[in-house]
Amino acid sequence: VTVDLSFDPAWEETHRSRQWGAMYDPRLITCVWRRYGFVPDRSALRFLDIGCGVGAQTMEIGRLGFAVLGIDGSPSAISRAREAMPEILRHHVAFAVGDVTGIRLPNDHIDCVTDVACLEVLRLDHAKAALQEIVRVLKPDGTMFSIHKADGWQHRAAAFKVGCGSRGLSYEDAKNFYSAFFSRVELSRDVHVDAIGQTVPEWIVACAEPRK
Ligand SMILES: C[S@@+](CC[C@H](N)C(=O)[O-])C[C@H]1O[C@@H](n2cnc3c(N)ncnc32)[C@H](O)[C@@H]1O
Repeated sequence: VTVDLSFDPAWEETHRSRQWGAMYDPRLITCVWRRYGFVPDRSALRFLDIGCGVGAQTMEIGRLGFAVLGIDGSPSAISRAREAMPEILRHHVAFAVGDVTGIRLPNDHIDCVTDVACLEVLRLDHAKAALQEIVRVLKPDGTMFSIHKADGWQHRAAAFKVGCGSRGLSYEDAKNFYSAFFSRVELSRDVHVDAIGQTVPEWIVACAEPRK
């Protein structure tokens, strides 16, 4: 029997052996707030944070008042996230071990999917399978925000000693990748400087109108 797993165990080793990824990405939170900050009842909106790691983004989305589930393939990441979660978030923030290519949620269930550097670490065929799952669980008017490495990114995961590296996409490749699953895709290019001082080119991707 062949089991085609999309979760690379290198991530479990990273999360087991060290604390990593405790700071949320303010660019992702800005996207969420600009789109959903002023809806009358934020707690009625359901978010799914894929590859949530230790849950920094997930908990920040929860702090804004949204209901949110964070999933990650790494049991160590999920137990670190649960340990770090403050009491005040417990009624509307949850974490589960899960693979993004087989999301255990019903169809048309989620208002917004968030992705900080999860799709980019998957093999391309797995990333496409994940996007298919994301479209399945999203409501027809659902959206996704994704932060994904851009071309020019030098793979130096070894220097970082985390995970298994990631893919950088050109504008055309990124546009095609997301547009196969969403009718509206907006990309903006951004750069941040990481913990070892290297500049990291990234796409901030806003997707709407899932192709159901
Ligand atoms: C680059 S890290 C980003 C973590 C987190 N979003 C952050 O910003 O700190 C990629 C995350 O995706 C998770 N991951 C990798 N493959 C996955 C899969 N197939 N299903 C679910 N999570 C996965 C890893 O365990 C890791 O936590």
